[in-house]
Amino acid sequence: MNNLTFAMVKPDAVASGKLGKVLDATLAAGFIMLGGKLTRLTKVQAQAFYAVHKERPFYGELVDFMTSGKTFVMALERENAVQAWRDTIGATDPAEAAEGTIRKLYAEDKGRNAVHGSDSDENAQKEIAFFFSDVELISNQD
Ligand code: RTP
Ligand code: MG
Repeated sequence: MNNLTFAMVKPDAVASGKLGKVLDATLAAGFIMLGGKLTRLTKVQAQAFYAVHKERPFYGELVDFMTSGKTFVMALERENAVQAWRDTIGATDPAEAAEGTIRKLYAEDKGRNAVHGSDSDENAQKEIAFFFSDVELISNQD
C-alpha cells in the first residue's frame, strides 16, 4: 500500500477557485487519480476525520472550517505516495512551506491551508476507505 495516499482540496481552496490549479499541480507531480469526488463534509465526518486532534485548541475551528464548504477528495497513486504528496503540498503553515509547493502557492494560513495529505501508509488506507468504496477506485491495472 505504500504507493497510495489520500488527499483533500480543502474548502478555502475550492471556494476561491483554486481546485483546477491544485489538480494541475497534482497531475504535474506525477500522481495518478484512482478516485475523486466533490463533497461537503458533515460535522460528524469532520470530527471523525480529525479525531486525532480532538484535544487540541484548534479542533473546533478546524471542524468549522472543514464543514464550511465543498472539498474535493482524492485517492492518489505514485511511488512512495505518502511522502511524495507531503513533499508536493509543503509544510502545514504556508509561511514555512517550500517555494513551489501547493500550500506555498495557494494556502491562506496555517488553518486554512488548501490541502490535506495522509501522514502514514496506515492512515492513507483508512482515509481512502473513509471516503471511497472499492468500486469507486479505478485501478490502472487491466
Ligand atoms: P493535514 O492533516 O490537514 O494534512 O495537515 P498536517 O498533517 O500538515 O497538519 P496537522 O498537524 O495534522 O493538522 C491538521 C490541520 O489542522 C489545522 N491546524 N490548525 N491553528 C493551528 O495552529 C492549526 N494547526 C493545525 C490545519 O488545517 C492542519 O492542516
Ligand atoms: Mg495531518
